[in-house]
Amino acid sequence: MTANPSIYLETMGCQMNALDSELVMGSLLAQGFRLTDDLLSAQLVVINTCSVRQHAEDKVYSRLGQLRGSKKKNPDQIVAVIGCMAERDGDNLLAKSPVVDILCGPTDLHRLPALINDVRTTRAPAVALSGKLRDRSTPRHHDAEHEDLEALDRGRWFGLSDHVATPKVFGRHQAYVRITRGCNKYCSFCVVPFTRGPESHRPPDQIVEEVRRLASGGVLEVTLLGQTVNHYHYIDDAGRETTFAELLRRVHDEVPELQRLRFVTSFPRDFTDDALKAMAESPRICRYLHIPAQSGSDDVLKRMNRGYTVAQYDSLIERARALMPDIALSGDMIVGFPGETEDDFAASLDLLRRARYKNCFIFKYSPRPGTTAFGRLEDDVPDEVKRRRNNDMLAVQAEINVANHRGMLEQLVEVLVEGPSKRTLKMQESEQDRGSEVDWSAKESAQLVGRTRGDQIVLLDGPPELIGNLVHARIYACTPYTLHGRLESTGPLVTSSLCHTTPAAAGNIPLAVLQA
Ligand code: SAH
Ligand code: F3S
Repeated sequence: MTANPSIYLETMGCQMNALDSELVMGSLLAQGFRLTDDLLSAQLVVINTCSVRQHAEDKVYSRLGQLRGSKKKNPDQIVAVIGCMAERDGDNLLAKSPVVDILCGPTDLHRLPALINDVRTTRAPAVALSGKLRDRSTPRHHDAEHEDLEALDRGRWFGLSDHVATPKVFGRHQAYVRITRGCNKYCSFCVVPFTRGPESHRPPDQIVEEVRRLASGGVLEVTLLGQTVNHYHYIDDAGRETTFAELLRRVHDEVPELQRLRFVTSFPRDFTDDALKAMAESPRICRYLHIPAQSGSDDVLKRMNRGYTVAQYDSLIERARALMPDIALSGDMIVGFPGETEDDFAASLDLLRRARYKNCFIFKYSPRPGTTAFGRLEDDVPDEVKRRRNNDMLAVQAEINVANHRGMLEQLVEVLVEGPSKRTLKMQESEQDRGSEVDWSAKESAQLVGRTRGDQIVLLDGPPELIGNLVHARIYACTPYTLHGRLESTGPLVTSSLCHTTPAAAGNIPLAVLQA
């Protein structure tokens, strides 16, 4: 490898993966690596993978397939598969895909630089997995005892956004902060407890300090992350407990310069009135909850091992709305879970209509090896039925979106401007294809995209230097998925490095993945 070896880093999956990628990238750039968006010629390829559905794993195999030829031409290329699929598929992945040099699970990512060095010196595969789903008879190259789960987060490079700027993850105005890792819920369909291990919580002082440093570096919006984020609780050596509600108040009160605080993903059973009150009483905590129901049928919820009933879910959203009538809710639903009848499905549609989510992620059930549902419940809903239910549910949610969005017409909303819209990026690309070098960020006005406090997407026209700023926009039109706003006022402008970054120079994380 050269003095400044090039890395191609691709991120698939959830926000937790986006954060892991940012932390991994920081540790590699600090060691002298530099980013490239050329997969085939990169000296180091890192693919941060997702295992939640089969489709996500198929995408990884197709990316690895693309590397077969380049690796022959460039035998020093190192290919690392990190994240949930490395953990779930383990040695099987090494056997099926000989281009892979490194496997590193989500709880071992602080070891990645050492694994890269090992491969450079030995040219043999290097593996760091927690081993929960692995065949324990195979030897491990690195014994992953999780002696320092915090190493990756503690090693965060706060200057990263000065070096790399992509609209969503590495921009200097938004950041993710992990508060809880792993999950103990064992929903019967879900692979996460196996890939990310048991739940553990970070000390509150570390979290507050991380948020403070991000805010003092110009971050306006922090999203606290956990698989079941509202289950956060920490007991220190002196026996003092910090609940999720207390953590929210601490971050809000101790970092007054932070403009927006959010958290995802909440687990319905764990929501206390204290946490809802902390939200209602803290003006800079966004009134937004991502709180997946998964199904509107008690029978299905029971088979899913979700631990709550539909009535309990309904009462939670009623409690939230009673305290915060303007709260925006979003959800996840699974269609075609084993044994789901037409009546169960109709009950899920009813739940959607009652919840009136601002958006809902809808998934077709995908059996995951290692989960209880995989072993015990037959995947008996035919694919065409899953597809139809998926489409029907999307249509119901689209009607709800339109009704919600119409209710926002003429309203003045606060928008955090995140970057150029997809349309602006496409126009820039087609201008580049035609050989013209017009830089959209130098234009007087371009279509920009941002989000409200309730996480609604707003398109507005304005000068690119608004990126990274809070502005006010009057909503004048809508589609099921976006609001159109007219700029009314801006606060004092913070000049963002993003304005001067052309999309091609913005790193190599595909926008489609970041905006998913
Ligand atoms: N609490 C986690 C959930 C991770 S999985 C988080 O949001 O970070 C994200 C969503 O994927 C789940 O809420 C569920 O709706 C969906 N999902 C998980 N496993 C699935 C499976 N086997 N098939 C289909 N969808 C699944
Ligand atoms: Fe998965 Fe259920 Fe945990 S969906 S992440 S096992 S809360």
